[in-house]
Amino acid sequence: MKKVTVSAPGKLMLLGEHAVVYGHPCLVTAVDRRLYLSISAISNQQKVIINAAGVEVKGYEKSFDELGIGDIPKGAQFIEIAIKNFFESNPKIMKQVEDPLLRIHNDKIGLSIKTRSEFASMFGFGSSSAVTVCTIKALSEVFDRNLSQKELFDLSYKTVLDIQGNGSGFDVASAIYGGTIYFENRGERIVSVISDSIENPDSGISGNGDEEKFPLLVGYSGVKADTVTLVKQVALLGAQQPDVVNGIFQDIEKIVHHGREALEKKDFVLFGKLMDQNQDCLVKLGISTEKLNSMITAARDAGALGAKLSGAGGGDCMIAITPNSSQQSVKEAIENAGGEIMNVSTNTEGVRVET
Ligand code: MEV
Repeated sequence: MKKVTVSAPGKLMLLGEHAVVYGHPCLVTAVDRRLYLSISAISNQQKVIINAAGVEVKGYEKSFDELGIGDIPKGAQFIEIAIKNFFESNPKIMKQVEDPLLRIHNDKIGLSIKTRSEFASMFGFGSSSAVTVCTIKALSEVFDRNLSQKELFDLSYKTVLDIQGNGSGFDVASAIYGGTIYFENRGERIVSVISDSIENPDSGISGNGDEEKFPLLVGYSGVKADTVTLVKQVALLGAQQPDVVNGIFQDIEKIVHHGREALEKKDFVLFGKLMDQNQDCLVKLGISTEKLNSMITAARDAGALGAKLSGAGGGDCMIAITPNSSQQSVKEAIENAGGEIMNVSTNTEGVRVET
């Protein structure tokens, strides 16, 4: 069995968080911090061994028939359920004598999985979706399944839902397609807004997008957000005040549509204004924090064209679209407000095979 290494990028939500959980669109960009995952064979042991140092998983073992059963350390959850879902979605593989999976059982060959990440899970860059996509992509390579982008998306999204119970799937799409995408309705529509069109997700996203960076500064609030809890919090507000929350979601949808046009025209002044409007909506949803608010205000006052939180809220990162002339002052303002500048570049390549 060949050893395979794959990598997938982290992501930043540009516009549309929370509303996207209810089928509304969002805009997301892939960042140049990547998660790497390799799979190699181990002989005479019919099991999976996972080492994910960044999330404190060291030599965790599970037999093939026990996958998904019993206690799973948090850092190994997405990998283990992704493997289970990959095997379960390939029943034919199980039946064919010549098939690689059966060779695993017959010859007592197991899988050793190792991960390495250029970003900590606490930043909200989407480590869960990146590791899920990497696991399934690597298995697809190892077993010559040649999954299409759409199949990879469906299986990875199922895995995330199996574990988290909710989520829009935008982060999974970003890890797969990379670039900067418009994402709608649980992946029914995925369109690249800066590179070539990927209206049909199976056609794959074009290029490396290097020519299309836009000036985004990222500030980490120092607080890890719990996405599942925040999504539930918004759901509760929606149950208590459906008209208000639906109205906010409608506003966010309009902002995303205008934001897509602004990005396509590279009108970053307009995009900044739309980020500010989106932030107002997120404040109304009750998911911004004092710390995020003060970092955002500081960035705007120091010359950013617009700023907002990015992701679930409650912590994680804020983003500020910033002209080159104000980069230094905005960085300092974010730091003075207690934030940590994350040096990332946007619009980068999606999942890829490294070896
Ligand atoms: C979290 O990064 C973004 C949310 O919209 C959740 C999701 O889309 O799955 C809050």
